[in-house]
Amino acid sequence: MKMYLFGGVVIFVFNLAIVKSGLEQRIIGGSTAEIRNFPFYVSIRTYPNNYLCGGAIIDRYWVVTAAQCVYSKYRNNILVVAGTDALNGTGDRYGVYSIHIHPLFNPNARTNDTALLKLTRSVTFGKNISSIALGKDVLSDGKTLELCGFGAFAYPFTSMSSNLKYIEIKSISNAQCSAVLNRQIHNSNLCTKGKSGKGACVGDVGSPLIKRGGFFGKTKLYGIVSWDSSCGQGRPDVYSSIIGARPWIKEITGL
Ligand SMILES: *[C@@H]1O[C@H](CO)[C@@H](O)[C@H](O)[C@H]1NC(C)=O
Ligand SMILES: *[C@@H]1O[C@H](CO)[C@@H](O)[C@H](O)[C@H]1NC(C)=O
Ligand SMILES: *[C@@H]1O[C@H](CO)[C@@H](O)[C@H](O)[C@H]1NC(C)=O
Repeated sequence: MKMYLFGGVVIFVFNLAIVKSGLEQRIIGGSTAEIRNFPFYVSIRTYPNNYLCGGAIIDRYWVVTAAQCVYSKYRNNILVVAGTDALNGTGDRYGVYSIHIHPLFNPNARTNDTALLKLTRSVTFGKNISSIALGKDVLSDGKTLELCGFGAFAYPFTSMSSNLKYIEIKSISNAQCSAVLNRQIHNSNLCTKGKSGKGACVGDVGSPLIKRGGFFGKTKLYGIVSWDSSCGQGRPDVYSSIIGARPWIKEITGL
């Protein structure tokens, strides 16, 4: 909680800097994230060590990510790296025992864009590594969420961030999201409000969208970045909804 409050202070200072300098277009829309504050975050890499996508630890044996990241991959070619907030960080590395793609995933429409990775061994939890609980209650509009990832978090896109970043972002209803994007948003999706200079970007696919629990609640996972084309240009970002995927996640993992 202390760290979270600390994070809030960082954001405040950061926003003030934007207002003062008037350089919003060029300022990167994320703050540096420390892995101890996002201990469930994992990067999925292809051998030998190339970043592929983000993901989240939901149990000692299970990681959730976007189906588009892994549906054409062999389990032997990917690894899951936990406990590091550096893009090239060594971290704790886990092999993948099996890849499970949502049976109704459509790679063209990117609907039901959810995958589960079963790891070859149990994750060792610690200060910087732990699982996140799955969101259960449907989010109402305007809830404050956090997104973390290695994506550019800047537009125009240049290169990925070498350190994990996070932003605060608000939920919006699927109906509003659909109206702004002028396309159908299914129940398997979840959207966040577009904000100029803030949002998901290239390299964030599979990254976790979370809601902090505060003093008494648990921090929970609500979404997995699915469409990242907006790059903070003010359009909503679209995620795979964890609540939407819940029956399938339960069927595969028992969670
Ligand atoms: C946890 O991560 C921080 C960087 O965020 C690092 O300085 C520290 O050594 C890590 N602790 C452990 C136990 O790995
Ligand atoms: C990661 O990259 C930084 C510079 O970008 C470099 O200083 C550091 O040694 C690299 N770490 C590893 C583990 O390769
Ligand atoms: C997504 O999957 C659910 C079952 O988990 C299914 O009911 C729904 O129709 C699917 N959505 C699309 C757009 O295929």
